[in-house]
Amino acid sequence: MAEPKDGDLPRKLNFVIVGGSLGGLAAGIALKALGHHTTILERNPTALLHDQGAGIVAGGDALEFLERYNRCKRPISVSSHRRQYLDRSGKVVHTVDMIQNMSSWDLTYHIFRANYDGTPSPYCDAPHLDASHGSATHLHNRTVTSLEETPTGVLVHWKSTTDPSVTGSLLADRVIGADGPSSTIRSLFVPNLERTYAGYCTLRGTVPESEATPETLSAFAHRFTFYHGPGIQILAYLIPGINGTVEPGQRLINFVYYTNFPANSPELDEILTDVHGTRRRITIPPGMVSPQAWEKQKVIAKENLPPQFAELVCKATKPFVQAVTDVISPEHEFMNGKVVLIGDALAGFRPHTVASTSQAAFDAMIYADHVQGKVSREEWKRETMGFAGFIQQRGVEMGNRSQHMVLGLEEYIADRDQASKPRRDEVYPEWAIKI
Ligand SMILES: Cc1cc2nc3c(=O)[nH]c(=O)nc-3n(C[C@H](O)[C@H](O)[C@H](O)COP(=O)(O)OP(=O)(O)OC[C@H]3O[C@@H](n4cnc5c(N)ncnc54)[C@H](O)[C@@H]3O)c2cc1C
Ligand SMILES: *[C@@H]1O[C@H](CO)[C@@H](O)[C@H](O)[C@H]1NC(C)=O
Ligand SMILES: *[C@@H]1O[C@H](CO)[C@@H](O)[C@H](O)[C@H]1NC(C)=O
Ligand SMILES: *[C@@H]1O[C@H](CO)[C@@H](O)[C@H](O)[C@H]1NC(C)=O
Ligand SMILES: *[C@@H]1O[C@H](CO)[C@@H](O)[C@H](O)[C@H]1NC(C)=O
Repeated sequence: MAEPKDGDLPRKLNFVIVGGSLGGLAAGIALKALGHHTTILERNPTALLHDQGAGIVAGGDALEFLERYNRCKRPISVSSHRRQYLDRSGKVVHTVDMIQNMSSWDLTYHIFRANYDGTPSPYCDAPHLDASHGSATHLHNRTVTSLEETPTGVLVHWKSTTDPSVTGSLLADRVIGADGPSSTIRSLFVPNLERTYAGYCTLRGTVPESEATPETLSAFAHRFTFYHGPGIQILAYLIPGINGTVEPGQRLINFVYYTNFPANSPELDEILTDVHGTRRRITIPPGMVSPQAWEKQKVIAKENLPPQFAELVCKATKPFVQAVTDVISPEHEFMNGKVVLIGDALAGFRPHTVASTSQAAFDAMIYADHVQGKVSREEWKRETMGFAGFIQQRGVEMGNRSQHMVLGLEEYIADRDQASKPRRDEVYPEWAIKI
């Protein structure tokens, strides 16, 4: 057989990916598998992102991504066999049999890193290098500040995160903005788009299953459990434990507790003011929540929640707080397709949708298919913007209903049925005609 000549091969492109969380890593993994060269610029000052120790529901597209690309051989999730709803007294009042797989952010991150640039960790060994893959370079401590179109590509300018006097730039054929819901790349093209506060926060945390009382553990082991009250929603499920272990006895119970704090209220200021007295805009990371503010939340939890959930809130040692926000970019490509937004940079969903990781994985896969020529530009645009727009709006509706209206249990169940469908095309068959 004749060797292919250079000119016969499709040109290998240089991709610069801004942001090295799940979205940026997913794009890097998918593009290097096509033989393209990839460089991730991540602003975090250290080589690995810090885990928030919280759970993620492994949705259809995240699982499809792992099936396509994951070369680490290890369990990736803990299964829940049933969704169930408790009443205020803690009694199970409704169940739905359904298998859903739950993972943790840190396990997913380390699996993605191992697959991207071969970073080994206690979570998983690095898979063997595949000679057909393009290069995978991960650079931390680089905050991207601006882009500049040149005749040969796009110059990506960065500065050192810890020493802004140190700057540099990279020339890219294409730039992927995977820099999260407060995206710098998006702001360069859509400068006046704001993240808006939805009127409530999530209080999140984990409790080792070994530290829960037997009654509480039985409410959450292999169960995806919910409670709804006026202005309150709390849910919990088991996730992998330290170093990603899925061994019974060593896993974590993960909870997400939605509770209302009116905009501009003293209560909101209190919960978003960290242990050092700094009022944060959106997130207080684990270990930084003010102990006084948290003590107050424990009292409120004991007054308002079923006992199993109140126990989780009281036993969480490193809770964290996130204000729920809305943001969606009107466009996902700029500079005639040389700059593309994916994941939370394109659309930051409310957590009710449990779709943020799926969106990042989906956007990365379909973009790689488009680069490969398997998906047309029109189809790529329709699917990507359809996913973003439809789920973003659905998250707003679900959140408004559960936090700001008093509904019957049936209505909450119906909302959750929609969000729990395993595959995107079962949930939103009407996408193609919606946009
Ligand atoms: C450290 C961390 C922990 C998380 N933990 C959880 C969790 O436990 N559970 C959960 O459901 N979700 C978690 N998330 C959010 C989750 O990753 C996203 O909702 C989803 O997976 C989509 O990811 P993304 O890559 O699009 O955005 P993000 O995860 O928000 O990542 C954006 C990345 O871009 C980087 N970045 C931002 N601006 C710049 C810039 N100018 N230059 C260079 N880099 C930049 C950020 O440092 C960040 O790493 C976490 C995110 C982070 C960053
Ligand atoms: C980040 O980069 C600056 C400039 O190169 C360097 O001085 C600093 O030590 C780096 N920080 C870390 C944590 O690596
Ligand atoms: C969940 O995980 C189990 C075992 O790991 C697997 O067999 C199953 O297909 C997964 N189910 C879904 C819906 O992802
Ligand atoms: C997790 O991995 C680290 C690094 O290998 C190790 O030091 C630690 O003991 C592990 N922890 C547990 C609970 O397995
Ligand atoms: C959600 O609530 C906000 C604020 O109350 C309101 O402005 C918005 O129109 C609502 N959206 C939907 C889709 O119900």
